[in-house]
Amino acid sequence: MRKYQIAVIGLGQLGRRCVQALRHDPALAPAGVVRRNATADDSLGDLPMVEHIRELPEVDAALICVPVEHVLGTARELMQQRIPLVECARLHGDAFVAQHAEMQRMARLYKARAVVGAGCDPGILSLFRAQFGLLLPHGHTRSSLHTGASLHHTLAAERVPGVRKALATELKTQDGTAQRYVYVELEPGTDPVMVENAISHDPLYLDEQTLVFAVPSIAALEEDNRGVLLERHAAAGEPSHAALLLEARFNEVELAARMMLAACRALPLLRSGAYSLFDLPPSMLWGESGNVAEKPWI
Ligand SMILES: NC(=O)c1ccc[n+]([C@@H]2O[C@H](COP(=O)([O-])OP(=O)(O)OC[C@H]3O[C@@H](n4cnc5c(N)ncnc54)[C@H](OP(=O)(O)O)[C@@H]3O)[C@@H](O)[C@H]2O)c1
Repeated sequence: MRKYQIAVIGLGQLGRRCVQALRHDPALAPAGVVRRNATADDSLGDLPMVEHIRELPEVDAALICVPVEHVLGTARELMQQRIPLVECARLHGDAFVAQHAEMQRMARLYKARAVVGAGCDPGILSLFRAQFGLLLPHGHTRSSLHTGASLHHTLAAERVPGVRKALATELKTQDGTAQRYVYVELEPGTDPVMVENAISHDPLYLDEQTLVFAVPSIAALEEDNRGVLLERHAAAGEPSHAALLLEARFNEVELAARMMLAACRALPLLRSGAYSLFDLPPSMLWGESGNVAEKPWI
């Protein structure tokens, strides 16, 4: 089966994640990257880098990964060429509604197709918030961001000679066993095996399987792994006292890229217009396999 050829516009954090995800997708493939300055990028091998999308031989759709203030202009150019697009600019509330309305106006004018706000937030987290609101219509939602790691036990690891900084997270394996991952940033010349032995034999860590990983920067790790706690509580007067809770750890940019690819799968099934994720039936996000996609989740 021919893969749907996707251009990525802007090679920043999101653009890079999109290229990576496209490379492993069964139905989509990267057609190339459109950049302001089309210098080759060794990390992307022989993927075409161009300054204008017209230079790419075959494009079925484009992912807009440029700064928020350039998204509308980029979308207009694509729509004028009838290239279907997906974007996920970080806009919320009134700003999102205004951008969606303008995208809709342009999509009708140029008879083009677009999915807007298809990232992590806005994107999949917006859908979770809405589902919680649907189930508990009278109540309040609280959303708090945190790093994906529990800082528990970190100080003990930092006392090991040669460890500059450490961060510990606790995870459950598929069979329910608890595992502790300890990430360590080492002083130059420190032997990682010696550090691993010292940490895994510390009595504080003996209660659970402990895996130690040396990383170049703990700060970068904390930046990369975000968490969110989304809570919806029924209003005080509601007899059920129901509460819904989503506790998630993830890389925001990676989830945004995944959602953009899912939206891409929906594009061939859409008529012209600008759709938000709220406008799309969930099965569309599975593309051609949408007709069988519900079975594993129902
Ligand atoms: N909804 C979500 O969950 C979510 C998550 C992450 C990002 N986003 C959105 O995705 C977009 C990209 O975010 P990002 O984090 O990837 O940003 P970034 O790392 O700053 O990358 C943006 C890229 O856009 C290109 N670009 C084009 N015109 C530019 C200009 N005038 N100034 C600077 N860069 C320009 C550049 O690539 P070249 O050098 O290759 O031209 C740049 O690397 C933003 O609109 C952001 O709001 C949304």
